[in-house]
Amino acid sequence: MQITLCLNGEKLKQECKSNESLLCALRRAGVCFFAPCSGKGTCGKCKVKLNYFTEPTETEKKLLTEKEISQNIRLACRTYPEGGMEVEPVSEFTPVATAQVEEKTTESASLRAIADIGTTTVTVGFTDEKGNIVNVKSENNAQSAYGADVISRIEGDIQMQHELIIKQLEKMINGKADILYICGNTAMMHILLNEDCSGLKHHPYKPVFLDSQQKKFEKFDIITLPCMSEFIGADITAGIIAAKPEKRYKLLIDLGTNAEIALFNEDKIFASSAAAGPAFEGANISCGMAATDGAICSFSFENNMKNIRTVNSAAPAGICGSGLLDIVAALRSKEIIAENGRIDGGSYSITGDIVITTHDVHEFMLAKAAVRTGTDMLLHKAGINAEEIKEVILSGGFGTYLNPESAAITGLLDSALAAKASFAGNTAFCGTAMWASGSRTLPQNVEILSLATDPEFSENFIENISL
Ligand code: FES
Repeated sequence: MQITLCLNGEKLKQECKSNESLLCALRRAGVCFFAPCSGKGTCGKCKVKLNYFTEPTETEKKLLTEKEISQNIRLACRTYPEGGMEVEPVSEFTPVATAQVEEKTTESASLRAIADIGTTTVTVGFTDEKGNIVNVKSENNAQSAYGADVISRIEGDIQMQHELIIKQLEKMINGKADILYICGNTAMMHILLNEDCSGLKHHPYKPVFLDSQQKKFEKFDIITLPCMSEFIGADITAGIIAAKPEKRYKLLIDLGTNAEIALFNEDKIFASSAAAGPAFEGANISCGMAATDGAICSFSFENNMKNIRTVNSAAPAGICGSGLLDIVAALRSKEIIAENGRIDGGSYSITGDIVITTHDVHEFMLAKAAVRTGTDMLLHKAGINAEEIKEVILSGGFGTYLNPESAAITGLLDSALAAKASFAGNTAFCGTAMWASGSRTLPQNVEILSLATDPEFSENFIENISL
């Protein structure tokens, strides 16, 4: 049967199989669509508007508001298309704001392209002959219909996701370069090159490759940066290059679904990772969203009045990671949130319809406990104390700003480390550009500490949960 997809004002016909959910049909059509739980029916984010009323399922009644149901908004993973159906995606999945560094007009293929493939966002730019980064733009990862987290992605159709990302890169590069340097986590690198991901699913984890890969594609050659382990990807390698290792140790924490932590100086790297869940990326937070236009990225009380900042000063649309951190810190300081994360009445209104719930705070607590435990244990195992660290660099899709005070109040970081912390944005992208330009300062002595399997981890994790 045929349905009609309404995308950016255009109507496209799409063939649908019987017993196929709308989510599967949208995936097959290659639509860049937000489905964080990958169709499990738990996130409630895969919203579509239909051209007529259908009886909502129990899941939809739970995850959608009455207003949404009356407007024929349904969940793509719970809707089974019928002939003649018109479908318009309505999730908050808008393209990430584009950061134009410099407009380059040359059509010459002498530019090198660089890309950071994040689970959520793909950033592409170019380095010119002098090593300057030009024409940077970011888009949501076209593979997002296969879930927000790495596990959902490696359990999904690898071939389809590989084709989606290659097409997305071709479009973003638009013939302006013939070599593309890429970083991303280990799973993203495997999917990019259409490699078998089965070894990344279970213990003992066996990636197909870790070292730098070079592969020819129709429109460009791809060169990937080396990964360090199954959980410490090329994005961390790039982040370390960007942080310019020195004599004194620096600490890099990439806050994502998997928090990757690297402690390094000019000779040595200690690295580890901790499963933090997608709270910092807003995926499992009721009003959560990526750090795109309208995301609340900063929050405080001034004279008992709420002081709210949003990305690009757009009307508040949801809460991104840095906003969530500030909100939890501010509400905890006023004891609106209890030590165990409970909010009286179950939720607190931030502005308009945007609320934070007890469930959201609990998700945040799990994420921050994972990061805090991973960081503390990495320092401890490496025999380095906070005083020996020169700088703490936070990166990831967290937001555009991070308040170190909020990191200390919530216990995300030890206060001595929080005092040295700054948010460095996309360090992976900058490091990839440096690699492409030939500056590849990377300590050779690498020690990977697997903390998640260490019995101490669970003990410390429980101690670090409360606020
Ligand atoms: S509820 Fe449909 S993808 Fe999560």
